[in-house]
Formats: sequence, C-alpha cells, structure tokens
Amino acid sequence: MKFGVLTGGGDCPGLNAAIRAVVLRAAEGNDTVVGFLDGWKGVRDGASRPLSPADVQGIVGTGGTILGSSRTNPFATPEGAERVRTEIARSGIDYLVAIGGDDTLGAARDLFHRGGRVVGVPKTMDNDVNGTDWTFGFDSASTVSVDALERLRDTARSHHRAIVLEVMGRHAGWVALATGIAGGADATLVPEERYDEARLMARIRAAVAARGFALVVASEGIDLGTAHGSTAARDGFGHELLRERGVGAELARRIEARTGVESRFAQIGHIQRGGAPTLFDRLLATRLGAVAVDLARAGKNGHVAVLRGESVIGVPLDSALGSPKTVDRPWIELMHSLEA
Ligand code: F6P
Repeated sequence: MKFGVLTGGGDCPGLNAAIRAVVLRAAEGNDTVVGFLDGWKGVRDGASRPLSPADVQGIVGTGGTILGSSRTNPFATPEGAERVRTEIARSGIDYLVAIGGDDTLGAARDLFHRGGRVVGVPKTMDNDVNGTDWTFGFDSASTVSVDALERLRDTARSHHRAIVLEVMGRHAGWVALATGIAGGADATLVPEERYDEARLMARIRAAVAARGFALVVASEGIDLGTAHGSTAARDGFGHELLRERGVGAELARRIEARTGVESRFAQIGHIQRGGAPTLFDRLLATRLGAVAVDLARAGKNGHVAVLRGESVIGVPLDSALGSPKTVDRPWIELMHSLEA
C-alpha cells in the first residue's frame, strides 16, 4: 500500500514520534509513505515528500513536526474538496493517516464520508479530544507549564507578590488543572467553572498572610465577565484566538486593585508547544501511529486510534469526535481540595 500522512492544527511535542511510527510500521510490511506538507493544505495543493525509514531517524525526541502544520480546512469550499479528491487520486495514495485534533480529524471524517480512505491519530496539548483518555502533547505542554510555575514561585517569594500564570488549552482547562495540581498553585481557574472573584481574592489574601506570596494558574479560556471582552481575531477554523484576550494580565490587575498585593503575570503561550516530548508522549504517539497503520491494513476505514485505559484501540471517527472533552467535577473538586 501507499500511505499518505499529514499533521494538522496546532503543533505539539510528539508529532514526530507519531510520524516515525507510521513510517516504520508501514516499512515493516513493505508499504511506502509520503508526507503531505502543512496539514490538509498539502493534500489540497499536492505538496508532499517521500518518507523513508532513513528520513525519520533521530526524530522521535524532537519537537514540532517535520511535515509542517496549518489550520487549513480543505472542505470549507467545494473547490477545495474537489482538489483533495483529485490530488489523492493523482498521488496514488491508498490510505491517508491524519494526525491532529478535533478540526483535523473532523476534516478526516469529512473525507471518509465523501468516499476517501483515511484513519486518524489524535493529538493536542489541550487534551480535549473526546474519544481518547489522553492525547499526546498534553503531558509535554503541562510539564513546561509546571516548570514555569515553579520559576514564578521563586520570584514571587522574593518580592512578596501575587503572580498569575496564564496557560493555553482553549475551552478545556486540562493544562491549567494539571499545572495547578502538580505545581501547587494557590488558586486555579478553568473555563469549566464559573469565575468567582470573591473566592479568588480570599485565596490570595490567605496565601499572602500565610507565606507572603501567591500563585494563580489561569486557563486562557476563562470568562472574567462583562468587564473583559473577546477579540475579533480568528484562526482558519473560525476559533477565537483566546490568548489575545489576555486574562492573565486582567487578573493580575484585578488582584492588585482588590487586595493591594503587588501583582504580575506571565503568559507562556507557544512556549508550551515547543521542545522535546516527554517519555509519556513519545510512547503514546508511537503506539497511536503504529496502530493507525494496523487499522488501515485491517480495512478499518474512518477509524481513529485512541487510548482507552492501558490499551490502544480503533474506534469510528464519528464516535470519537463529539463535543470537546472538558474537565469533569471530580478533577475540579480534587484541585480545590489541594488549594485549601
Ligand atoms: O489547540 C492548541 C492551542 O495551542 C490552544 O491551546 C490555543 O488556544 C491555540 O492552539 C493557539 O493557536 P495558534 O497556534 O493558532 O495561535
């Protein structure tokens, strides 16, 4: 068989490990692979490069994606959809492996329903793909955020300040939750919970009274109410660019105004998406990439490789792409119990 592989949406550590696994698993069965450049854009525009085992040597531990990425939705127009169809036929691809989050996998589902042959691999630092227990990229991004929080603790302690760390995650609070729990924040704000200003200020006052400083983790997707609006900036899939709202800066301003504690903020943004993947992400990405090839060989068209418990299995894209997976109540309760 001839496989095509693409990486779409926001990049994250682990993509290269997944590409490597696809290429090496394919080579095991004497199948060949071409990599489409910059996500669905490369499929639509016919931009690709051959990927041999030698091409993926030494990339398992590198960040980013050797194929490039974009937030292109080729099915947004009938012309784009037609170009995808003709380019796949022209390049002689038997099966496409789409590596991405909800948007990229949504386009894969679209291709499947239009008669194409495609399997999926979920990734995203947001950890919000519904059909899988965890996505690769999340562990690496959260590890970077925890490191940032620990650095902020040092300087907050020295200057007796409150510092707000704003992290990514879109409308799911997984990265904030993990950072708050694993980094020991005094308060963590996630989009799944209504913003409670009185509680936050009480937490800051208590932390400053006890230790002389306070640390807050805020997810970029939280809603601070009427005084804080949204922006017009949108990506290729129509999503608001949440970091432009600057919730971290706004929170630091409010904390200083309400409590009198000198405050600062840090927005680490895309720093969370770069660097070497953690061991967990390397292993997960590798398993998912290999199983995606197995799914294609087994004729499981329209399926996506997912982690369920300890196992990696294939499930239909239709069932895996419901509404984004958000942080549930038990996690939020655990997070708050640790802030006390
Ligand atoms: O979906 C991954 C993510 O990093 C989100 O957490 C964030 O809101 C968004 O991508 C940022 O997108 P971009 O890289 O297009 O600015």
